Amino acid sequence: MRGYLLGVLVLLKYCICGDVVDFDGDIKDFVVGNGKLFVLTENRLHQMRHDLSEEKKKDINNSTHPVNILVPFDDNGTLITCGTYEDGYCEVLDINDITNSIYYESKLFLGPKETEKSVAFIAGASSSKYLLIGKKLDQSTSQSPVVTLRNTVQTQFGGILSYSEEGSDPAIQSTARDVEFVDGFQRDSSSDLYLFLNTETDSERKVHVLWMDGSKSKKSEIFKSLQSAVIKCCSDKARPVLVSSAVIPSEKAVIWAGVFSAQDQQDPENTALALYNISSIQGRVKEFCTLGEKMCGSESASDLQLLSVVFKSSSLSSVAAVRNGSWIVLFMGTSDGQLIKLILDENYTPGCPSVLYKSDDERAVFPRMHFDPVDFKHIYIALRNQLRRVSVVPCAEYKPLKDCRSALDPLCGKSSNTQNYATLVTFHTRSLLFVVSARYVLL
Ligand SMILES: *[C@@H]1O[C@H](CO)[C@@H](O)[C@H](O)[C@H]1NC(C)=O
Ligand SMILES: *[C@@H]1O[C@H](CO)[C@@H](O)[C@H](O)[C@H]1NC(C)=O
Ligand SMILES: *[C@@H]1O[C@H](CO)[C@@H](O)[C@H](O)[C@H]1NC(C)=O
Ligand SMILES: *[C@@H]1O[C@H](CO)[C@@H](O)[C@H](O)[C@H]1NC(C)=O
Ligand SMILES: *[C@@H]1O[C@H](CO)[C@@H](O)[C@H](O)[C@H]1NC(C)=O
Repeated sequence: MRGYLLGVLVLLKYCICGDVVDFDGDIKDFVVGNGKLFVLTENRLHQMRHDLSEEKKKDINNSTHPVNILVPFDDNGTLITCGTYEDGYCEVLDINDITNSIYYESKLFLGPKETEKSVAFIAGASSSKYLLIGKKLDQSTSQSPVVTLRNTVQTQFGGILSYSEEGSDPAIQSTARDVEFVDGFQRDSSSDLYLFLNTETDSERKVHVLWMDGSKSKKSEIFKSLQSAVIKCCSDKARPVLVSSAVIPSEKAVIWAGVFSAQDQQDPENTALALYNISSIQGRVKEFCTLGEKMCGSESASDLQLLSVVFKSSSLSSVAAVRNGSWIVLFMGTSDGQLIKLILDENYTPGCPSVLYKSDDERAVFPRMHFDPVDFKHIYIALRNQLRRVSVVPCAEYKPLKDCRSALDPLCGKSSNTQNYATLVTFHTRSLLFVVSARYVLL
């Protein structure tokens, strides 16, 4: 049996599901570690249970020790906080009690600008873990270190958090005037290291991916494995700025989703969510090379191949992804305070988007979102000074397209009897009314 359903107007209802906490300052960052949540505001660091109840808090003196790097180091039982004060300092805290300070080190050369975006995470092989920091460390020179690997233990060549190795200072440097790190991670299974960033030169803006082999034990060997490529989005128009990204858990390939912006707020298709296969990054772009290498400036990379553009809107600000079997479930935040869920089938074809949450006062959703580390049925979103824990299964009734959402939602735990389902035509993220052209086949 085959049916068509065209031009159906769906009134999207929503309700407030989940928990909420209002902090006394805006959220600068938040991370998940050891089954807990750590939320950084201007003046405080909060340690919270996964249900958002507070366990501990620690005052931060923003005028003397502002924090801009927050990394949970589960294996070591610590939470690393760093800032640019005193030429860069890090304070290592007990992950079970952040009021307990374990270690402090300053003069770490962490870059001049406090507000600049950076990425930091634990990288390397199990026997040699490093704190990777992606940040332009010196604005005054044309070639400055942008990626360093910091020790996590005392070694004969330097202290905890030093980036030296055997008398040299291995790093990746960049020739671009501006470098803005957006995201980065190391794959558990393969130790592939990925970094995603924006560069700006006098003539153009570009999105880059850097790949390194994190299974090597020496810093210099990890850097020597550097491969890089340009990521372009999309064929309809150039969107040269990456806003947020997420890796989609996959067994065979590394599939990655990026939110790209054309930087034109008036354009209803200013932002696009696009998927790429980043399994194999090969070659080099001219903007990045390892320190001391002669090759900086030569280019051998080809652009990454786009798999699919799955969503366009005026104002996407963040993305997170989970997989359930062959289904991919994407969560997208917008700069007017919506959390949208979108399900893709095995061919990366999107189904109907649904709004899981909408803020009353159009607060932008923070670019990083995290899933509940204990129960993967909730996602945390930060909206200015507010943190919300939202159920990934919508609690509203959706009428009248009963075949469109819940029946096809792999997170709902219901089996599906529809195959070729909805094709989205237009989606006005600013209104709750949207028009879909749905085509479905009942088996
Ligand atoms: C922060 O540090 C400054 C300079 O040492 C000091 O004057 C101020 O009282 C401190 N603020 C708090 C809240 O501790
Ligand atoms: C904290 O410090 C940063 C950089 O030094 C500054 O931009 C920000 O306005 C300060 N915030 C408060 C609440 O003082
Ligand atoms: C790792 O744990 C040890 C022991 O608690 C501590 O001394 C060290 O500072 C920690 N290192 C980092 C980078 O957190
Ligand atoms: C992804 O790329 C790898 C390496 O180029 C290739 O072997 C694989 O088939 C691709 N997978 C998908 C789903 O495109
Ligand atoms: C995946 O889908 C199955 C069946 O649709 C469901 O029972 C299960 O709870 C889902 N898993 C997650 C992590 O949501």
